[in-house]
Amino acid sequence: MNLFVRLLRLGRFTLAAGAALLTPALAADYPTRTITMIVPFAAGGPTDVIARIVAQHMSTTLGQAIVIENVVGAGGTTATTRAARATPDGYTLITGHMGTHAAAVPLYPKLAYHPTKDFEPVSLLAGTPILILARSDFPAKDLREFVTYVKASGDKLNQAHAGVGSVSHVSCQLLKSVLDIKPTGVPFNGTGPAMNALVGKQVDFMCDQIVNAVPQINGGTIKAYAIATPDRNASQPDLPTTTEGGLPAFKAQAWNAIFAPKGTPAPIVATLNAAAVKALDDPGVRKRLLDLGSVIPEPAERTPEALGKLVEAEIAKWTPVLRDAAAN
Ligand code: MLT
Repeated sequence: MNLFVRLLRLGRFTLAAGAALLTPALAADYPTRTITMIVPFAAGGPTDVIARIVAQHMSTTLGQAIVIENVVGAGGTTATTRAARATPDGYTLITGHMGTHAAAVPLYPKLAYHPTKDFEPVSLLAGTPILILARSDFPAKDLREFVTYVKASGDKLNQAHAGVGSVSHVSCQLLKSVLDIKPTGVPFNGTGPAMNALVGKQVDFMCDQIVNAVPQINGGTIKAYAIATPDRNASQPDLPTTTEGGLPAFKAQAWNAIFAPKGTPAPIVATLNAAAVKALDDPGVRKRLLDLGSVIPEPAERTPEALGKLVEAEIAKWTPVLRDAAAN
């Protein structure tokens, strides 16, 4: 082990030990200043939108501002690495998701963090069904025609995503393997900008979380072919499921959740969890999330323990699916 690694490990140990010693004082006063919530994708995308809706309510409960910091790059793993290395004092958090805290593990052999070893789970915030979307003038009127068209198009079609390991990348990897298609992947710093490109017809199609798509579907600026969940979503009652559309093998739902760096004192995690749970029970927050198609977790799904188990299960689920998938 070289000196740098030894110093780094010593530094981590010192931070964690220091946090543990300070636990009573920290927990009693927390929070006394602004909290930073890192969002690992561009502003305006699904993770950003969910983080802002919930953080706004949490900041009222906690009596301190929660500032959103968008840190982009490498499918969300740049920001997640930064969050993993932050001081574990409750003042730096991250809204991660199915990509950053599960799918990235098999896709990045040199990932600089581990979702379970380097983070304290705080609370699940929202389930986000995946939709198959295309530019508004895409030449297919339903999912069956979409499948026929993309299969016949080879690499001529451009598929937008938010970087290797992002939800939009991983869910379309699954769609590509189900359909045996090889479109050309076009990475963006988040599906906020990817959606702008879809609306502007600069890309052909994408797989995206419903939260990012509802305003555009309602505005008629993109086409939506199907929702990849077993049931239809109340926010888009006319949108058929992939099963109804003849593609039952494609099912995907992502999730977004709050994490704190490993070593964050348990009382602080509990304070943050309580604030998140309170936000998810607030009628105004619920309406905003539900109007965007989110699935609000049940109380039993909102505990740190439940989120920890979800992350473990999701890593186990995605690892065999993605280990050999080509990064496109
Ligand atoms: C975003 O907020 O841009 C998304 O969560 C990106 C993604 O994972 O597809």
